[in-house]
Order: sequence, then structure tokens, then C-alpha cells
Amino acid sequence: MSVVYERFNRGCSQNNSSVPKIMKQLPPDTVRLLSSSQVITSVLNVVKELMENSLDAGATSLDIKLENYGLDRIEMRDNGHGIKAEDTPVMALTHFTSKIFCHEDLERLETYGFRGEALGSICAVAEVAVITKTEEEDISTQYTLNFTGQIVSQKPSHLGQGKTQIIQSVFSEQPKSKTALYNNSRR
Ligand SMILES: Nc1ncnc2c1ncn2[C@@H]1O[C@H](COP(=O)(O)OP(=O)(O)O)[C@@H](O)[C@H]1O
Ligand SMILES: [Mg+2]
Repeated sequence: MSVVYERFNRGCSQNNSSVPKIMKQLPPDTVRLLSSSQVITSVLNVVKELMENSLDAGATSLDIKLENYGLDRIEMRDNGHGIKAEDTPVMALTHFTSKIFCHEDLERLETYGFRGEALGSICAVAEVAVITKTEEEDISTQYTLNFTGQIVSQKPSHLGQGKTQIIQSVFSEQPKSKTALYNNSRR
């Protein structure tokens, strides 16, 4: 059992009993995993979300690599406008988006994405790194993100303008569903 999965199970004391169960609010990490699993349901879904982000960023070229049907590693590189350095601390925080600013904007949507959920949800179910460079920046930077979408490390990179997303070990913290996901991914 992985360290991350053990964290979700800590404090689970309601086993099989006919006694009425007490109600407790789920721990925030568990809520995050469950809600993220509703947004990101499969490898295909990860690829779709990343492609939509690339198209929204004006990309004209997409390079996609999958290892073990995407379960071990998904790498997607685009030549879109990239993410400004000042926006990177919030790029994968839930409900942060550059596509709408208030609910009136929903009336005039011109992008695939607008909920600000995809990157944050992917971080909750996989190991994520982002490399980005805008036209104004001299070099690209690689960011490693944690379970909650926060940057935990960064270093200079050699890639050109655009964004590259590296997703590793997707769904590894959900052992019960992994077999089903693996089978679906091969279809
Ligand atoms: N490939 C990309 N190129 C440039 N910016 C991106 C890219 N992917 C994501 N972003 C930025 O990160 C933000 C969060 O992405 P996401 O979580 O998919 O939410 P949404 O697409 O709904 O805004 C986007 O609003 C956008 O500003
Ligand atoms: Mg999106």
C-alpha cells in the first residue's frame, strides 16, 4: 500500500457493525481525492483535458507520448502561449482560471475550459510536472507540483515556447480501480 493511500485510511474506525454509524465530515485530503476522481476518470480524460488546454492556449502543434497506455507516464508538449511566471503559483490550484472571471462570462464562452479544475484534479491523482515558457521569457522553467497543486520545486529547462506537462503514476493511489482503468485504457 502506498504512503499516500495509507494517509487516506488513517483514522478509519467505522467497520462492519449493525450499530447506527455516527456521521463525520471526511478529511480534506479524502474529499480532494474523491472529487478529483470525478473530474479525472481515465487516461483518456487526462489527455482530453490537456489537449483542450493546449488548444485554448493557441497551440498549433501537440506532441503526445504515452508509456504503458499512459498509466506510467503521459507527456504532452504544445507550442501555445505558455503560462506567465507570475501565474505559475496558482496554475494548478482548484478554481483558478484565466478563461472567465465571473459568472456573466459564462454567457460568452470561447474556450474549452473555464472551471479551473483539470490541473488541480490531475495533481490529486498523479505526480505532475509542468515546463512552461512565454514569448517574453528568456528560458523555460520546470515546476514540480504536489497533491494539492502547489509548487514544491522549480529549475531552469531548455524547452522552447509553450507548455509541456508530465503526468506520472496516474491513479496509483486507487488500487481497487487500477485494474479496471488498465483494462479500459487498452481498448
Ligand atoms: N497548455 C497550456 N498553455 C497555457 N496555459 C495553460 C495550459 N494549460 C493550462 N493553462 C493555464 O492554467 C489554467 C488552469 O487550467 P485548468 O485547470 O485546465 O483550468 P481551465 O482550463 O478550466 O481554466 C488555465 O486557465 C490556463 O491559464
Ligand atoms: Mg482546462
